Amino acid sequence: MRHNGHNGVKKIAVLSSGGDAPGTNACIRAIVRVAAERGMHVLGITHGYTGLLNGEIAPLTRRAVGNIIQRGGTILGTSRSKEFATPEGRAKAASILLDNKVDGLIVLGGDGSFRGAAALSREHGIRIIAVPTTIDNDMPGTEYTLGFDTAVNVALEAIDRIRDTAEAHERIFFVEVMGNVCGAIALEVGVAGGADDVLVPEVTTDIDFLCDHLDKGFHHGRRSSIIVVAENGEAGGAFAIAHQVWQRLRRDYRVCVLGHIQRGGAPSARDRVTGSKFGALAVDTLAEGKSGFMVGELDGKTCLTPLEQAFDGRRQADQSLLELARRLTR
Ligand code: F6P
Repeated sequence: MRHNGHNGVKKIAVLSSGGDAPGTNACIRAIVRVAAERGMHVLGITHGYTGLLNGEIAPLTRRAVGNIIQRGGTILGTSRSKEFATPEGRAKAASILLDNKVDGLIVLGGDGSFRGAAALSREHGIRIIAVPTTIDNDMPGTEYTLGFDTAVNVALEAIDRIRDTAEAHERIFFVEVMGNVCGAIALEVGVAGGADDVLVPEVTTDIDFLCDHLDKGFHHGRRSSIIVVAENGEAGGAFAIAHQVWQRLRRDYRVCVLGHIQRGGAPSARDRVTGSKFGALAVDTLAEGKSGFMVGELDGKTCLTPLEQAFDGRRQADQSLLELARRLTR
């Protein structure tokens, strides 16, 4: 079924902002192609809000988004802009958008990017639709943010490999994963990777409990152990925790910080499909003349959430996964 019409929203622009996330290119492709189907023109803004302020704007054609669905990162580049966070910066951005006859802006990013987008809309009447792209999966108003599934699967593959070495050398491995201040990646990876424990910022780390748990496992014949540590926990990163465990147990250990490896690489099928759905809904929403929404997913369905809700606090990771990981350890 073809969708036509745009309610006077003839020209839209798209930018990506903040940390890149796999699935972003699938989303950009969907935006360009759905807009073309509706007879709308798309401008691509490179380097996020910094690029917008520098006037880095050029048409994005159907052809330009061919062969990108399988690529990680973002073809538009990204940035974190201090200037756009100021009223003066946003006034400049608004006048550049108006000079380019932009009727609506789609912002791909996280909560910081959306806060700026909401201010741009409030102060200057720019129509905005936001798409959540962050591997952290920590945004209110959506149960899924683009890039999470790919990041989890990359970390999981790394843990499967580390497990071989851990077992061969009979070591404890502390594997640190990303997530900013949210334990969502750690918990998902912890359960999927069969970790013996998962340490997340949402739960106070009890080193004595951890050591006791590890000790009992070794006593019952366990030869190696994987502990998943989310970055930014209150007990310190994986190195600090590993050292405290060493002081108590004196067992051979290694630390592996996965870092940005989790953010790059080919997007999973989940991120390509969700990116495509989010991009299509973003354009359809603008074409209906609506503004001030974040596209997202609730109860497995693609949906719209008022933009302000997307940066009202932080979504808590599913802590029942921690309970499950602990119940399932050997
Ligand atoms: O928000 C995505 C994220 O990868 C976080 O998990 C991490 O804390 C942060 O970005 C790292 O940011 P940067 O790439 O600026 O070091």
